[in-house]
Amino acid sequence: MVRSDNFHGFNTKAVQSGELRDHRFGNITTPIFETSTFVFPNYEKEAYLDHTRNEPYIYSRWGNPTTQSLELKYAALEGSGEGLAFSSGMAAISTAVIATLGKGGKLLSVGELYGQTQMFFAQTLKNYGFSVDFVSIRDFNAGKFDCSGYSAVYTESITNPTLMVADIRNASRICGEFDIPLLVDATFASPFNQKPIALGASVAIHSATKYISGHSDVILGLVGSGAQLFPGISSLRKSLGGTPDPLQSYLALRGLKTLGLRMAKHNTNGMELAKFLKQHKKIRKVFYPGIEESEFFDVARNNLSGYGGMVSFEIAGGIEKTRKFIGNLTIASAAPSLGGVESLITLPVDTSHSKISREERLKMGIEDSLVRFSCGIEDIEDMVADFENALASI
Ligand SMILES: Cc1ncc(COP(=O)(O)O)c(C=O)c1O
Repeated sequence: MVRSDNFHGFNTKAVQSGELRDHRFGNITTPIFETSTFVFPNYEKEAYLDHTRNEPYIYSRWGNPTTQSLELKYAALEGSGEGLAFSSGMAAISTAVIATLGKGGKLLSVGELYGQTQMFFAQTLKNYGFSVDFVSIRDFNAGKFDCSGYSAVYTESITNPTLMVADIRNASRICGEFDIPLLVDATFASPFNQKPIALGASVAIHSATKYISGHSDVILGLVGSGAQLFPGISSLRKSLGGTPDPLQSYLALRGLKTLGLRMAKHNTNGMELAKFLKQHKKIRKVFYPGIEESEFFDVARNNLSGYGGMVSFEIAGGIEKTRKFIGNLTIASAAPSLGGVESLITLPVDTSHSKISREERLKMGIEDSLVRFSCGIEDIEDMVADFENALASI
């Protein structure tokens, strides 16, 4: 039987919801149903049903019991009613956006997006006949956008790498007046720090590769929505084929059980590190939505219940000193992802934003010496000591 989701607290849901426990085996954890296909037709009276069709399972691209457990657990945590898993965050984004836009649809998006999403909107969607317009996140937050005539509006809850925060409450109100769905990529917040649907959005999207799975060992996406949009998104997933493998689903399911515990630690580590950095004389600027100095502090307080483990900052003294600082850290590894238990660091100029001209980058607020740090769950005292040493060496 699939455990019901009548649980109250976040951690209780994280552990108990969605689990596929079968009294005939007495299993505690959900098994990995590593099967591509299922007996068909299945005349078993008590057959488990694929929730995307309310029929017995047939084929794992359509639905799979392990993946379904992940989807039910995620939906319980997101408070979205329905949940769907994808083979990557990009599969989740592309499928949810196309399904929501419909034929010849018009998308209005915040401009400050994850690079691949930006390319997907500005190039791919346009090449396939959709129309896409962008609005800056500052105008978006100020309500300076007109969404009449659009089929959907899209934003990220916290942007990369300067950690600007979108005012989802305000945008939901505006989109609601025009009955236009608002889609939110809440990867940097995770369902622990933000539930976009409770703030009024129609769809929540995650690169579950990050905080949700949490151990840097899986590529996966999740989409949460209500009953109205769910059939369109799940039927497009079936056609585009971005369904995860059951083993990936299992890893994400296991990761989700500790999301609340991990996020609490990411939140305190992020805040402590930001406080340490803002008083250090070799740090020019700190970007963290949870500190009062942040331009986005009020929006963050109104839209997030915690500020996460992502901290960006500028090192005084230019790019060579910044590279040396990164090289002298011993706890964090230089790698492009985020949200795992281990700390990771990137220099956007050398990685995510290396193909963008310096002029463009500066306009985006990305200085040469801007560093993006993903706080893991290591002890903050060790992290700060490591930073002290690396900063003293430059
Ligand atoms: C905010 C955000 N959305 C989506 C993605 C894409 O996710 P994935 O790499 O799982 O396809 C990423 C990846 O870094 C991301 O940072």
